[in-house]
Amino acid sequence: MAMIAIDGPAASGKSTVGRLLAEQLNYLYLDTGCMYRAVTWAALQQNIDIGDETAVTQLAHDIQMEIYPVRDEEADGRHYTVHVAGQDITWELRTPAVDANVSQVSSYLGVRQEMVKRQRAFGERGAVVMVGRDIGTVVMPDAPLKLYITASAEERARRRTRDRSEQGHIANYDDILADVLRRDQIDSSRTHSPLRPAADAILIDSTDQPPAAIVNAILQMIQEPVNGER
Ligand code: DC
Repeated sequence: MAMIAIDGPAASGKSTVGRLLAEQLNYLYLDTGCMYRAVTWAALQQNIDIGDETAVTQLAHDIQMEIYPVRDEEADGRHYTVHVAGQDITWELRTPAVDANVSQVSSYLGVRQEMVKRQRAFGERGAVVMVGRDIGTVVMPDAPLKLYITASAEERARRRTRDRSEQGHIANYDDILADVLRRDQIDSSRTHSPLRPAADAILIDSTDQPPAAIVNAILQMIQEPVNGER
């Protein structure tokens, strides 16, 4: 099994599951959301108007972005490191300003095409767990295992509120729930690669299940292939 595709809405637990799964299998882990976040961060940094599709798309082509596993000297709770033009911006990707603008940036076709190209190149290394919104449907439609992880909007907002306050940001549950619902709406109704499960994805509801239990179930699934296919 060279490739595992995991999709689902914001804060569904897909990143935690993907990361643990990659650890267990000794696979590379790629959170593709961080790529759209890096483009958004760079646009804000350079004062590019987020509504200017041409300028944001040009930036997506030009951006020099590197994502790699955490080195010992960088360990500060991060799960991977993201550099843009040599600068470590891993934590900048989680700020409310990036959260507020990333859905719009990721709705642009040219931005998506460029990110998908880079994601496929990463996938070609093999032994990868890739997490996002369109991995099973667009980026890696031939992945032998596709998972679609969801949870109720309220549970996702609770998780995001907790994460945000643990990172030292001000976190108001009602505002975060409104933002989760707004992003769900944008991500699933956009014209290009809307958020939806692939026809052959396995659906998992994480509302009442801890990530470790989901990971164990997936590992069991991989070890006991259906019809000997995997
Ligand atoms: O998973 P996340 O919250 O870091 O994703 C940030 C944004 O990027 C979110 O609005 C959805 C978008 N995204 C996407 O359109 N396609 C992906 N493969 C990953 C993320």
